[in-house]
Amino acid sequence: MPDRHFASDNNAGVHPAILAALAAANDGHSTAYGDDEHTQRAEEAFRALLGPDAQVFFAFNGTGANVVALAAALRPYQAIICPAGAHLAVDECGAYERFGGGKLVDVPVSNGKLTPDDVERQMHGIGDQHHVQPGAISVSQSTEVGTVYTVAELRALGDVARKHGLLFHLDGARIANAIASLGVDAGTMLVETGVDVCTFGGTKNGLMFGEAIVFPKHHPAVDALLYTRKQGMQLTSKMRYAGAQFAALLHDGLWLKNAAHANAMARLLAARMRDLDDVIEIVYPVEANGVFPVLPPQAIEPLQRERRFYVWDHERHIARWMTSWDTTPEDVHEFADAVWRIAPRQKTAATSNA
Ligand SMILES: Cc1ncc(COP(=O)(O)O)c(C=O)c1O
Repeated sequence: MPDRHFASDNNAGVHPAILAALAAANDGHSTAYGDDEHTQRAEEAFRALLGPDAQVFFAFNGTGANVVALAAALRPYQAIICPAGAHLAVDECGAYERFGGGKLVDVPVSNGKLTPDDVERQMHGIGDQHHVQPGAISVSQSTEVGTVYTVAELRALGDVARKHGLLFHLDGARIANAIASLGVDAGTMLVETGVDVCTFGGTKNGLMFGEAIVFPKHHPAVDALLYTRKQGMQLTSKMRYAGAQFAALLHDGLWLKNAAHANAMARLLAARMRDLDDVIEIVYPVEANGVFPVLPPQAIEPLQRERRFYVWDHERHIARWMTSWDTTPEDVHEFADAVWRIAPRQKTAATSNA
């Protein structure tokens, strides 16, 4: 098996510029818990991106960043409306339910995207003491199925959130892929759309660890965040290393270059599958760094014996192939060649056995 895969963008290593920034930060003593020059530089870089009112808090990981941000803004009797399949709802081991204590209302969606109508349909039971009270909407950008909300779609969600007094939370584990895909600036996507708070991902985009919790504008939950982050075990004492990584990631557009490259590799992989479209159907638009093909069921195991990837939906035989900042065109071609070799053969064998 080759040592590079399409299983997850978390499988990629650390970008050399980030490792260099970690090494450079590893010099002498620095005040702990964020009162250091590296963290301040990273905060300034976020403000340069989003405007002077942005407030930034670094966290260890994406689950923690989502959970402590939501817990800072919501009470336990409030519900978060999110798409079915949201990482928050299915891949965080009930962390929000345990730590925040509230309820997640995950609603069926298509292409991974929540719509204002989905939100409106949940606006019931308000003021009813027997009913959880809608408190927030949470969407992932890019989505768990590799699609990207347009600015207009986000703005419409922001409007519905404002109309009902809901917090607008954006899980941006892959926010750079989304911004690179849309070709807009970060302010357009986060400030103008009315996002109240987001997780700004670093780990999947070349960092060793670290996500940022970003309030694009002042929000009352900022005051509570300091305490929920500490109570939620997301306050790193040696914060300078998180700050140094983010400062390097945001320097000179590295975050966008990494993400745009990963997106381009996903498009290349999808393009290599195009001529196989009687064998493989790509089920979601390839708008970020994920490709979701329906594979002939008999092809999955033989392919997984040669290449590592996850099956996203076992019932529908949908795989998930993720590209990352360090995926090369050669990686893509090698992987695509394996698919070409295995998938049609398995499909033909299955058809002639039928
Ligand atoms: C959409 C999304 N949100 C959040 C996360 C963060 O997860 P972790 O807690 O593993 O950093 C991930 C990671 O896979 C993700 O895909």
